[in-house]
Amino acid sequence: MREVVVTGGGTGIGYAIAAAFVSLGDRVTITGRREHVLKDAAARLGAEYLPFNAASPLAVKEAAARLPQRVDVLVNNAGGNTNLDRAKSDEDLMDVAEAWWANLNANLMSAVLVTTALTPRLTQRVVTIGSIAARGTGSGSYGAAKAAIEAWTADLAAELGPRGITANVVSPGLIVETEFFRGRLTDEGVKRRVEGTRNGRAGTPSDVADTVLFLASPGARHLTGQVVHVNGGAYLGR
Ligand SMILES: NC(=O)c1ccc[n+]([C@@H]2O[C@H](COP(=O)([O-])OP(=O)(O)OC[C@H]3O[C@@H](n4cnc5c(N)ncnc54)[C@H](OP(=O)(O)O)[C@@H]3O)[C@@H](O)[C@H]2O)c1
Repeated sequence: MREVVVTGGGTGIGYAIAAAFVSLGDRVTITGRREHVLKDAAARLGAEYLPFNAASPLAVKEAAARLPQRVDVLVNNAGGNTNLDRAKSDEDLMDVAEAWWANLNANLMSAVLVTTALTPRLTQRVVTIGSIAARGTGSGSYGAAKAAIEAWTADLAAELGPRGITANVVSPGLIVETEFFRGRLTDEGVKRRVEGTRNGRAGTPSDVADTVLFLASPGARHLTGQVVHVNGGAYLGR
């Protein structure tokens, strides 16, 4: 039985990833900041849960002591576009800095801190959830944070490779049925994004989860340092 940790596993893509590992008989621990969300999700999944802020060095350090002592698969899924939670201000430099730090913290630092804390006990796989926003334009600090994940993963693959551990990014396009858009995704927004795909549909959390399962499988042992795009062809990573 593998020990799997999925950050942000209480909702959306992370929940589907956790469910996919549970269905294979793995022992899964989900994390996130909201305890009630995690508690409910863990009960439905048959998973363990641990609430902590993955972007806080102190919280991660404390949580590490309570996470499994062996982690076969780490999925850094926690994140989101923090600009969707803020009023936009491009003039005040303090606001600009705070907005950028928020996205870098939520998406980049969360993955860096959790992975670093767990590095000595990792055995097989690290998968980090990126975004099509890293390769497109228009999403500012969110896209920049997801792009930084790709650069960091390239180094991580080299660091962990000698131990037989792979590190990859799964980079989704539009995925519906998550809390990402904070209920503000319009039909027009979906239509515009779907029109950009080659298969004419939006992605689902299980599209991402199935890709993560493959990367965690023995068949993906020689696949490392890569960005795997899961977007219906909306961006071609060739
Ligand atoms: N949906 C899309 O279209 C899409 C596309 C490309 C990439 N992604 C990426 O996919 C990942 C999952 O997003 P989702 O779409 O499933 O949205 P979601 O439902 O909002 O899930 C994000 C999860 O991350 C957790 N989280 C956020 N910040 C955290 C922090 N600082 N510490 C601990 N947990 C944190 C949230 O829980 P708490 O709020 O309780 O902490 C939540 O459970 C994100 O990295 C997102 O950027 C999504």
